[in-house]
Amino acid sequence: MSESSLNWKTFAMMSVAGGGVALLIWQTAQIRKMQDDCTRLREELRTMHEEMMDRVERRLATVPSGDQLEKLTRIPSGFLQSVPSWTTQSICSDDMYDDANEEWYNSPIVSPPSSSLFDPSSSSAGDAPALTQVAMDALDKLIDDNPQKAYDDMKKMYSEGSSKDAEVLWRLAKACHCIAGDYDRKNPKKKELILEGRGYAQSAASINDTKFIIVKWAAILTGSATDHVGMKEKIEQGSVFKAYLDKALAMDAKEYSLLHMRGRYAFSVANLSWLERKAAAAFFATPPEATIDEALRDFLAANTVRGKWIENLVYIARCYITKKDSKNAVLYLNEALSVAPTDDSEKELLEEARGLVKKHGG
Ligand SMILES: *[C@@H]1O[C@H](CO)[C@@H](O)[C@H](O)[C@H]1NC(C)=O
Ligand SMILES: *[C@@H]1O[C@H](CO)[C@@H](O)[C@H](O)[C@H]1NC(C)=O
Repeated sequence: MSESSLNWKTFAMMSVAGGGVALLIWQTAQIRKMQDDCTRLREELRTMHEEMMDRVERRLATVPSGDQLEKLTRIPSGFLQSVPSWTTQSICSDDMYDDANEEWYNSPIVSPPSSSLFDPSSSSAGDAPALTQVAMDALDKLIDDNPQKAYDDMKKMYSEGSSKDAEVLWRLAKACHCIAGDYDRKNPKKKELILEGRGYAQSAASINDTKFIIVKWAAILTGSATDHVGMKEKIEQGSVFKAYLDKALAMDAKEYSLLHMRGRYAFSVANLSWLERKAAAAFFATPPEATIDEALRDFLAANTVRGKWIENLVYIARCYITKKDSKNAVLYLNEALSVAPTDDSEKELLEEARGLVKKHGG
């Protein structure tokens, strides 16, 4: 074997080995690069998903917020002049559904003697005696006049055995809602009260879900609470909200505040894009489903009960615009524009209505 051939062989072997090492180094580098790419991709996917969920959350935020629900459950100023007399009572006072309240208002009694608050003969679950009608009427008036006092009184009843009395529970929930209305949206006390109230309202509904007023307040507190919880709970409680609305409206199909709320829920869910819906579906067993037609049906029904309601009219128009029915959209926008606004949010809605008429009026 010549030296040169040995050298050549050694060189060849060395280069093969070297090539192997080089290849190995190259492969390792490639794998590392691929891993980096993967990490980056995963990061990008995560960011994309987060952005998508943010979008879903923003869209779902068009479900009436707690503040808006509060507005819906109070008498809007100027509303009194524009609606038929039978609806002029505050929704918050529920007079439409409970004639007994009327009698209480007209009765000279300011506060019933405490001994007559309970009717021992109609003791319900063997815990605390059930509330008498007089006591219920007194509480209803107290909730309207001084919700904090009503809350304190009922908390006492609650701890003394009325925790399973649906009549106490829904009123306690309503008192929470009324007190919370005086706190700023960011105040943690508001969230605390609304979530506490939701607990009472949902307990009341689980005891008796055949009484309209109970289911109505369960819907209102559940809807208000979605304003104060995270994304996952917002979607979950959204369908609970919808279920209460369905139940309450099956008992009274003419309760326009509930019709409007259900319309808003359907509208915001129907307006999720396909992609947003998929993103939500990845997280939830039963992603929310609703159509614009469902929303439109509820807004139109609310409109027949309470016409000249700017916000509801604008929502009807938004539905028609989504359905590409400009003719009807403009009809309802003009109807909204014929109403005098009573506050800044109505002024803003009319501003939007003017813009939409210009865009779709042809
Ligand atoms: C529920 O409320 C309805 C209507 O007030 C009443 O007739 C019914 O007895 C109540 N049911 C229970 C379980 O309390
Ligand atoms: C709802 O969807 C329609 C069309 O799909 C769109 O024009 C409209 O801007 C959407 N509205 C909201 C509030 O996302």
